Amino acid sequence: MDDTIAVALRVNGRTFQGRCEPRTHLADFLRHELGLTGTHVGCEHGVCGACTVLVDGRAVRGCLMLAAQADGAEVRTVEGLAAADGTLHPLQAAFVEAHALQCGFCTPGILMTLVEVLNDTPDADEAEMREALSGNLCRCTGYQNIVKAALTAAKAVSGVRGA
Ligand code: FES
Ligand code: FES
Repeated sequence: MDDTIAVALRVNGRTFQGRCEPRTHLADFLRHELGLTGTHVGCEHGVCGACTVLVDGRAVRGCLMLAAQADGAEVRTVEGLAAADGTLHPLQAAFVEAHALQCGFCTPGILMTLVEVLNDTPDADEAEMREALSGNLCRCTGYQNIVKAALTAAKAVSGVRGA
């Protein structure tokens, strides 16, 4: 008996449909059903932030949300950050410039967390950036370059920060 369910949602501006088990979480659905493997899965219990995506504009843990709960939602993943012509999102460009990519596994989740910050509060200061990043674990070289990149991107996006 087929006990899978149908899930339809928009991801990065495109409509996707797929089937999955009711217990499938959103991150696995994105990766295994839609082939969007930029979203990573680390702890799978809401701690590391590697699975962070935007759902209807809010940063959520893809491992804590069922795919079924995202039915009909607008999802944005790391694959949707760059423009169609390949131009990097200001945050991605800032990560390259500041050498903030580091291990890479955590980067997609970190980017999506920061995209929400830039969308909501583009004039966020360092303390606010660090607070926002507190839900994304980085075990390699710390957060210095990540924060530096976030502030550079904020400056590019808002144009309000001084040099
Ligand atoms: S994999 Fe979702 S928070 Fe770690
Ligand atoms: S960026 Fe992955 S552990 Fe630091």
